Amino acid sequence: MCGIVGYVGPRPAAPILVDGLRRLEYRGYDSAGLAVHSPSGIEIRRAVGKLRNLEGLLFERPLEGTVGIGHTRWATHGRPSEVNAHPHVSGDIAVVHNGIIENHVALRRELKADGFEIQSETDTELVAHLVQREVRRGKDLLGAVLETIARLQGAYAIAVLDHARPDRIVVARASSPLVVGLGEGENFCASDVPALLPYTREMIFLEDGDVAVLEADRVQLFDVRGETIERPRRHIDWSPAMAEKAGYKHFMLKEIFEQPRAIEDTLRGRLDRTSGDIFDQEIGLDEERAKAIRRVVFLACGTSHHATIAGRYWTEELAGIPAVTELASEFRGRNPIVGEGDLVVAVSQSGETIDTLVAAREAKKKGATVLAVVNVIDSAIARMADAVFYTHAGPEIGVASTKCFTAQLANLLMLSIWLGRRRGHLSAERCRELVEALASLPQQMQETLQGTRQLVANLAKRTKDARDVLFLGRGLSFPIALEGALKLKEISYVHAEGYAAGEMKHGPIALIDEHVPVFVLVPEDDQYERSFSNLQEAKARDARVIAVATSGDEAALDQSDDLLEVPRTLPQLTPFVTVLPLQLFAYYVADFKGTDVDQPRNLAKTVTVE
Ligand code: AGP
Repeated sequence: MCGIVGYVGPRPAAPILVDGLRRLEYRGYDSAGLAVHSPSGIEIRRAVGKLRNLEGLLFERPLEGTVGIGHTRWATHGRPSEVNAHPHVSGDIAVVHNGIIENHVALRRELKADGFEIQSETDTELVAHLVQREVRRGKDLLGAVLETIARLQGAYAIAVLDHARPDRIVVARASSPLVVGLGEGENFCASDVPALLPYTREMIFLEDGDVAVLEADRVQLFDVRGETIERPRRHIDWSPAMAEKAGYKHFMLKEIFEQPRAIEDTLRGRLDRTSGDIFDQEIGLDEERAKAIRRVVFLACGTSHHATIAGRYWTEELAGIPAVTELASEFRGRNPIVGEGDLVVAVSQSGETIDTLVAAREAKKKGATVLAVVNVIDSAIARMADAVFYTHAGPEIGVASTKCFTAQLANLLMLSIWLGRRRGHLSAERCRELVEALASLPQQMQETLQGTRQLVANLAKRTKDARDVLFLGRGLSFPIALEGALKLKEISYVHAEGYAAGEMKHGPIALIDEHVPVFVLVPEDDQYERSFSNLQEAKARDARVIAVATSGDEAALDQSDDLLEVPRTLPQLTPFVTVLPLQLFAYYVADFKGTDVDQPRNLAKTVTVE
């Protein structure tokens, strides 16, 4: 996630901006830059990589001035490079931006036709040109920003400088965070509270559609029509460590609760709700390729592997294409049969996992087309693949993957729908139904998190001393059972097994007694009846049964010891909501046990070594 900082006041701006950016480093970034008003114009410094590279540049070519904006970039549009780093400039205007502009293709076309030369691959540069065009047409800076945001679709927090108004910064937000810091004779803005804590604890949290003009001695707030508005001033007493985690105890918990936003960002610009379809442009494949695919081979490790099991089921059902899922570590080096006609989908949060990288490389060498589904832009797997379909979950800091898992699910479901539609397997009506259900997911995930948090915390307290825990699920709930068990193992060190519920009687049922908590996933789907029988089998053997069921399921309430309810959605979408209480359960057990939740023993976030 990008980080924005702005300063207007009497002090040299550059050191304050760099310090603020450093305090936002936890958000992750690949490049950084500053723009500061100087007597001769707005001066820019940008560098790829860590902040020390930017500092080196500032040492050689200092920026003098007391009003400026800074940015750390986590690439979304365009690879990490100096030319794509922010701030972006158009004439006298400089802009930093956090978010994703959905209508960037149309805006780029329009600006080019209007004679603008576009230097970078970013959506942000387009914002700079739009503001500049309005200034040229006679608007003042505030008016130009208001006109510009009226043209933007998507998510943004922007901070804008205009050489003609060296006394101010204009900022605006929609769906991306932005906070204004109120000082004495100086004012600030930032994407997040930690950047501002050393300077002020008096803050205003901007809301969607808010625009603010920051000068040294005043801050004015406006709505999208330019009418003056007021927002409450808040005193923040968080410690810097708490602020980084937005008040959560651990990054993992923060990331669990970030999932509605991560899914919204991942779906953004991909769902065509007017025609009830998935847009072509971001999938990375063309229609001809979609029609030529004979088989889909999913490659991944760990949690990403679990996402691919759902991906496989969706591909078969919605796209009508034979599909297999392979653990990348088992696929590589065994000379598997793969080649032309195969679409290999390599799924990885980091884009750097060695097994997935090597396996996908081997498949590519044999003639398969490789599509990467990765979260980190320009990572090794993204670079080696023929096409990339990015998840936009933002950087994930907790070693245990949560928000990237559900973002991977979102991309794999969109891919299956897109393939099904292009190949004529999925009717327009069904496609529209799925697209609408996807659009409702962020809200339903939010409800699930809020509705189950306390129940799960209480359950975790009661069951934290269990030696073994079982997770059972069928169909799309099978990968969720595996994921629930992996989360628990990883961070709480409790032995857990995820099993296909139908396999119970082939062995694991022998494990069950009154000491074994058994999670049974029974959302309303095509497998409901049979999954419910498994729940009853566990109950009959005295297990403590925890049902994860669709809200209002009386039978589940009756037959289980604990019930975790999830909202009703299409059967294909149940994994997005059923996984949430399992992530919370793993988190709370680990927290009660006092383990190192964000950095569990023996584990690394990215496995780049053999
Ligand atoms: C997830 O909680 C794990 N830390 C791990 O299984 C992870 O999913 C796996 O190492 C794959 O990583 P990747 O998605 O970055 O390729």
